[in-house]
Amino acid sequence: MSTLVIVAHPDITSSTVNKQWRDALSKHEDIVTVHELYPEYPHGKIDVEKEQKLLEAHDHIVFQYPLYWYSSPPLLKQYLDEVFTYGWAYGSEGNALKGKSIALAVSIGALPESYTLEGNVKYTVDELLSPMIATSRFVKANYVGSHKLYGALTITSNQLTNNTEAYVEFIKQLEQ
Ligand SMILES: Cc1cc2nc3c(=O)[nH]c(=O)nc-3n(C[C@H](O)[C@H](O)[C@H](O)COP(=O)(O)O)c2cc1C
Repeated sequence: MSTLVIVAHPDITSSTVNKQWRDALSKHEDIVTVHELYPEYPHGKIDVEKEQKLLEAHDHIVFQYPLYWYSSPPLLKQYLDEVFTYGWAYGSEGNALKGKSIALAVSIGALPESYTLEGNVKYTVDELLSPMIATSRFVKANYVGSHKLYGALTITSNQLTNNTEAYVEFIKQLEQ
């Protein structure tokens, strides 16, 4: 069990994509620990020591979330603020995440054509993910890429099934 998938969805019961992703990963408990932040901390009081121990116990860390306002849902930002502490995650003695791999799994409402220079957003999703990528580097982890689903609002169930299979493969490859 060396991959930790941290799911940050504010309302997983009404989710289509992140719920299916989570449920698919939950069938691979031998290699994946699925950890859902919103059900764990419904009142927003994060147990920092517990979260740090969970991170220490895994080699690969995946942050899974829906893109909200070109960023992450707020509890994930709070998690980074509170859990990635000086002396633990960074600073001369803060090496807890050094050498671990960090990946992202992000569902995106709009279609890929929106996320181009010519599209209405004008930024690529990778550009929008740069704070997470830079944070991974800052804590001396290896950023190893992302799994994405575009068009979450209009996706067919076949497309979602295919994307979910690709996500499970993406997670399995982290172990290799
Ligand atoms: C508050 C909020 C903000 C959102 N912001 C964006 C956005 O910036 N860009 C985008 O493409 N989709 C945006 N969406 C759409 C979500 O990304 C989409 O609904 C989600 O990825 C679908 O995943 P789910 O089925 O797991 O909820 C937003 C949705 C909500 C509720």
